[in-house]
Amino acid sequence: RRPVTTGRLQRMKADGEKIVSLTAYDYTFAVAEDRAGVDVILVGDSLGMVMQGRETTVPVTVDDMVYHTRCVADARTAALVVADMPFMSYATVEDGLRNAGRLMQAGGAQMIKLEGAGEQAELVSRLARAGIPVCAHLGLQPQLVHKLGGYRVQGRDSAAADAMLADAQALQDAGADLLVLECVPSALGKRVSGGLEIPVIGIGAGPDCDGQVLVLQDILGITPGRIPRFSRNFMEGAESIPGALEAYVSAVREGRFPDASHSFGDAS
Ligand code: KIV
Ligand code: NA
Repeated sequence: RRPVTTGRLQRMKADGEKIVSLTAYDYTFAVAEDRAGVDVILVGDSLGMVMQGRETTVPVTVDDMVYHTRCVADARTAALVVADMPFMSYATVEDGLRNAGRLMQAGGAQMIKLEGAGEQAELVSRLARAGIPVCAHLGLQPQLVHKLGGYRVQGRDSAAADAMLADAQALQDAGADLLVLECVPSALGKRVSGGLEIPVIGIGAGPDCDGQVLVLQDILGITPGRIPRFSRNFMEGAESIPGALEAYVSAVREGRFPDASHSFGDAS
């Protein structure tokens, strides 16, 4: 398989070919995902929950992210490896530059992901100029959980939807290469994907995004507790873990996942 690059992701969007992304936190699963054809492996700070048993992503440190990113990057995958910037690691532009550099150099990431709206534009442009590809993350921002008081669908009224599109455009203009859009109504997922030049990867953002991302443990049906509405257990009907990964890849590629049962509508 040819290595996935930012240019290739851009061409996939232009060609209407769906981008498949999935989280991984270790070597063995990263190899399995790469073999199954995943385009973008995300070392998410969701590892706070699925690897460490924490309640939120807030306790995750840069050292944690470097460790898990190294494990994934050492799979030497064709997939593009993206690492999350954890909580408080980019509260200032200088912190953000230094910590993104660590994820690239010590962790082996090929792109970093950060949550936040237009206020992150300056950091995004500094990272871009330093040669660090950036995936922005809008909609539900799990690192804001203590401010938001919980996890819920974002951008449901038209003012919030307009603001999100403007933020997405500001981040693209600042130099972001990719955007993750989490937990927004399908109509907004479609609007943001259609309005941006860079690819938009949705999670709970409906079927019209340029690609999809899910958490590995959710699609294997082994997440302790409730699986989010926007996810699906791909072990159902599969005979093995590689089979479930392949089922996820082909369901996204062929536009069979997500359907309306995994998506959100506007406020009613
Ligand atoms: O941390 C994570 O796994 C993520 C994805 C769910 C987008 O940010
Ligand atoms: Na994350």
